[in-house]
Amino acid sequence: LRIAILAGGLSHERDISLRSGHRVAQVLKHAGHSVIVLDIDARTIGALRAFSPDVVWPLAHGGHGEDGGLQNVLIALELPYVGTHSDGCQRSSFKPTAKATVRAGGVLTPDSVTLPRAYFSQFGAQEVLGVVAEHLSLPVVVKPNQGGSGLGVSYASTADELRSAMVACFSYDDRALIESYVTGTEVAVSVVNTGNGPRALPPVEVVSEGQYDFDARYNPGRSEYFVPARLDDALIQRVQETALTVHDTLGLGNISRTDLILDDEGTPWFIDVNVVPGMTENSLLPIAAESEGELTSLYDALVRNPLVH
Ligand code: DAL
Repeated sequence: LRIAILAGGLSHERDISLRSGHRVAQVLKHAGHSVIVLDIDARTIGALRAFSPDVVWPLAHGGHGEDGGLQNVLIALELPYVGTHSDGCQRSSFKPTAKATVRAGGVLTPDSVTLPRAYFSQFGAQEVLGVVAEHLSLPVVVKPNQGGSGLGVSYASTADELRSAMVACFSYDDRALIESYVTGTEVAVSVVNTGNGPRALPPVEVVSEGQYDFDARYNPGRSEYFVPARLDDALIQRVQETALTVHDTLGLGNISRTDLILDDEGTPWFIDVNVVPGMTENSLLPIAAESEGELTSLYDALVRNPLVH
């Protein structure tokens, strides 16, 4: 097949996206496909028309790569692609919307409030603390409304930490999601659909020293991964079923990764979903896929069964 991979873009996850794009290209070339990687810019539509791909694999993380913007362009160009329809992308990439949707589908997610930067600038940290106290209790996790790779995410147990966390968050987004902190085991469950319906891959348990932040995600040795997660069979099945419910409730397509925390009672809490999950050598979906077989056969099956729109 002639395959165009779209990567890069302008989000804070640009470099990770390029790494994902080149890694997927390498695997697909190994499977015998003709692959180009386009670093997304104003010339991309012209380049797509010139190459005339059989299928496109958009691998831009964050921003318009995951909010449905890029997917809408591909739909307008009538190009089949690996991923999710723009509606599902939109529902998933804005964290408060994703949380409300999966909660309606019966999946637990920590309570949260969303505050705009303007509120923080006008009323200050003390007032924010008041809002948090009304709805949640410390500690909390503060994260950008949109975006991934742990960028702009901090934990806060005190008023001072909450102030710093808000400031850090607003360098990535104009809205902050402040979420109750749930302790437990971090588990990521990827779901793929290669034509026979959604299927959950083995869950990956993430163990990092301190926060699973940008460095802990992408620097080899900073985190440990256990595949399958060190859970009994019933819990493995439970987290896989939860990820499948998330995938279904949000209306996702060929591929997704749901990040969960499994609390001490064995209850899975939805934390985040990625409609364009990282595909670097250190990323969780490829780690899960490799644990049960060849990446090449999975990626080959995905490009042969792209989203029909
Ligand atoms: N947002 C990044 C790429 C991930 O979660 O894999």
